[in-house]
Amino acid sequence: MSGFDHFNLISPIYDLVFGRHVDHTMVAKADFQPNQKLLDVGGGTGRVTALFAEVSSDLLIADSAISMLRKAQEKSLRTVNSQSEKLPFAAQTFDRIIMVDALHHVADQQETLNEMWRVLAKGGKMVVEEPDKNNFIVKLIALGEKILLMRSHFLFPEEIVRMCQFDKSTKIETHFERGNAWIIIAKENSSEG
Ligand SMILES: C[S@@+](CC[C@H](N)C(=O)[O-])C[C@H]1O[C@@H](n2cnc3c(N)ncnc32)[C@H](O)[C@@H]1O
Repeated sequence: MSGFDHFNLISPIYDLVFGRHVDHTMVAKADFQPNQKLLDVGGGTGRVTALFAEVSSDLLIADSAISMLRKAQEKSLRTVNSQSEKLPFAAQTFDRIIMVDALHHVADQQETLNEMWRVLAKGGKMVVEEPDKNNFIVKLIALGEKILLMRSHFLFPEEIVRMCQFDKSTKIETHFERGNAWIIIAKENSSEG
């Protein structure tokens, strides 16, 4: 991928700074079952992906920053260097898809969510974890990232929910904890996509 990317710059220190703040409830929130196929979109260094290794070995990270992926490879995690807006996978490939702290960084959020939905298997779930823009501290972080020219665009959780109304059978749950929002989207077996 060409062009300047903040994440290629901060990859050497990313786990040192954020590694201690891993939410161990993510595996339960994703309702992850043994031997399921997981895709972590914008998974970076695999900070969160690694939590799923106790349940399945079929884990894959898709991320646009090659230096972040090198850190994941050092943890023996499988990686694909790709943009979330154009995922290089066939439709309905993964049982679970997660995206943690990355949706506000991507260039096209609706296209990213559409792609995650496309590659999600019927009966599968995708979990989007984002800082909750209703929280005052998150508003300050959003301002800080703007000052650092990080191209971030934070959404309110209710906006993400609206963007995930993929078809009539789509089931969406939301959870809020410690300034974060989890949007859990289930693809029914009867889904059209
Ligand atoms: C804050 S990091 C989060 C990494 C990881 N999910 C975690 O929680 O540790 C955001 C990640 O999103 C990736 N990213 C940003 N835009 C992307 C895009 N359009 N496609 C794929 N990955 C992207 C960045 O390279 C970075 O690794």
